Amino acid sequence: MSFDHVWVNANLATMRDDALGVIEDGAIAARDGRIAWVGPRAGLPAHSGAVTDSKGAWILPGLIDCHTHLVFGGNRSAEFEARLAGASYEEIARSGGGILSTMRATRAADEEALVQAALPRLDALLREGVTTVEIKSGYGLELDAELKQLRAARSLGLEREVTIITSLLAAHALPPEFAGRREDYVRLVAEQIIPRAASEGLADAVDAFCESIAFTPEETALVFASAKRHGLPVKLHADQLTDCGGAGLAASFGALSADHMERSNPAGIAAMAAAGTVAVLLPGATLTLREKHFPDIAAMRESGCRMALSTDMNPGSSPALSLLLMLNLGCTLFRLTVPEALLGVTRHAAAALGLVDRGVLAEGMRCDLALYAIERPAELCYWLGGNPCVGRVVAGIAA
Ligand code: NIG
Ligand code: FE
Repeated sequence: MSFDHVWVNANLATMRDDALGVIEDGAIAARDGRIAWVGPRAGLPAHSGAVTDSKGAWILPGLIDCHTHLVFGGNRSAEFEARLAGASYEEIARSGGGILSTMRATRAADEEALVQAALPRLDALLREGVTTVEIKSGYGLELDAELKQLRAARSLGLEREVTIITSLLAAHALPPEFAGRREDYVRLVAEQIIPRAASEGLADAVDAFCESIAFTPEETALVFASAKRHGLPVKLHADQLTDCGGAGLAASFGALSADHMERSNPAGIAAMAAAGTVAVLLPGATLTLREKHFPDIAAMRESGCRMALSTDMNPGSSPALSLLLMLNLGCTLFRLTVPEALLGVTRHAAAALGLVDRGVLAEGMRCDLALYAIERPAELCYWLGGNPCVGRVVAGIAA
């Protein structure tokens, strides 16, 4: 049999079943960027092609960070200090800081400056074995600046060996020039920004922030209806600070995911499970905002709602540059099991992005791999910091 590359002397966490789908002393082979064979080494057919001795490493599907705001201007370390001195996230947002302060810095930066600022952040994720990253706009809040952010995100995918998936998040905050004219901004998003992002192929999905300090469920529904008209799937920042019925709303639109979900109610969670909408858990935001309300994991388990885990990398509520750290926080804060956490950055993260070609080690899938020098998969959740990643493979090629 002819393969382009074979990895042997490895333990595999294929993520094919809910117990990690472990294959000890396994082998995995790539051809034309896809997995051509995977199984116990003893069963590997006679083959030609390059062979890598993985020296006993554990191989997982390349990790997927399915919710980031990685492209932005400036940073908000001064707000971090203000919060240490007692200000709340909502107070800062309502007084013109928060998302709007990043909006000003993002509008002021050109596309290349946004790319250069984002690269070190992206590299931090890649070093840990991440091979797919979702990036949202949402700091432009006007047509040109939203498109600029999406173009910068697309450019990152050309600068590095990684798949970038983009989401248009123009409905992230009301820009100041629309104060008192909310309907006009929602109309701009629905009638101009979404159509342009769709026709230029800049957005893979449409996201919105449904929240007391952002957009109402009715406004969100107008944005989602436009996304549907333009053939784009939707996802939602749901129920982070208040229960706005975001989970149920996301389910009713067949959203790929509802994210945050600290205050989502069990009925909304059950509706998501029935609709196949993934719950994206963001423990970095929970930690940073010292949130005491945690997502209702028991309701998610009971209803069979799939859970993903992500950094929510953003300059305000989650300046998180480590997906491995999120595995730890998902377990320690939310009490996820190790398999739940690992499924959350592989198979279920792929589902949260509507990707059916990755997230598990199986024949026909993209050969995106992450190799770790660990003795057991649980170590990926156990270490608080550090990075055991010893290899990254993108579309069958060591990256
Ligand atoms: O996912 N919740 C809304 N949006 C971001 C935060 C954005 C910001 O504070 O800059 C989030 O947490
Ligand atoms: Fe977010």
